[in-house]
Amino acid sequence: MLTNLFKTKTDPSPANGNSLQDGLDLTNIPCHVAMIMDGNGRWARAQGKPRTFGHSAGARALRRIVKYADSIGVKILTAYAFSTENWKRPVTEVDFIMKLLMEYLTKELDEFQKYQVRMRFIGTRDGLPEAVLKKMDAAVMQTKDNTGILLNIAINYGGQAEIVQAAREIARLAVDGELSPDQISKEVFEDHLYTRGLPAPDLLIRTGGDLRVSNFLLWQIAYAEMWTTPVFWPDFTPELFKQAVLSYQKRDRRFGGLTKKE
Ligand code: IPE
Ligand code: IPE
Ligand code: MG
Repeated sequence: MLTNLFKTKTDPSPANGNSLQDGLDLTNIPCHVAMIMDGNGRWARAQGKPRTFGHSAGARALRRIVKYADSIGVKILTAYAFSTENWKRPVTEVDFIMKLLMEYLTKELDEFQKYQVRMRFIGTRDGLPEAVLKKMDAAVMQTKDNTGILLNIAINYGGQAEIVQAAREIARLAVDGELSPDQISKEVFEDHLYTRGLPAPDLLIRTGGDLRVSNFLLWQIAYAEMWTTPVFWPDFTPELFKQAVLSYQKRDRRFGGLTKKE
């Protein structure tokens, strides 16, 4: 836990009454939170600025959330940064996002080392510029022994593509005689997803007001609790993240069964 590491004079500590932790049940924090960070373009447009301005502001917003999530005990934060469908956007916007990713992975690294953040990526490498891939690999390598929160960034990610890829890998094993079709189970399938080894998200947050999943973690969100806000991603704050967790803590997760009281 990084909690003690990033306490500053302006960070109220729990002992002094930390409003950002007040009211949270620290024994029931979602282990894995996934976030669809949407609304960067609309946020910028609302201020008469180019969409790219919103992407830069969005990158800054993520830093605050990583720190806050870690401070309350979230273990894994999966953040949707670029989807396989986002290539449909104008090339100038896509180029800007790629450059921003590289800048983020360079600038943020010192900070992440300081706070022991571990980085991982999900998505397909196909189509990503070599320079971006290099930065991603370096970030994973350099943070692999860190002990804090796992920041899992979805870049060039699509849930359908992920499932197709898993099916392809499994089919290949079957054709090679290494696995019989009867041996294909939920667990085997999950071992071929980008998220292998990670528990499924407990809480899915979407900013920007749209009520859809936009091809994000289609398999993994089977039983995730959903929380949405009309707030655009660059304006998303730890306070709103806390509200999402408070809402999560009121839910009765039945997983198809019955509530514990019955
Ligand atoms: C999310 O914000 C970031 C990416 C998809 C890269 P958008 O760029 O989708 O912003 P809106 O939804 O158009 O406002
Ligand atoms: C989802 O947002 C992808 C990311 C946040 C990276 P989009 O803006 O791409 O989703 P749609 O097009 O509104 O469904
Ligand atoms: Mg959007």
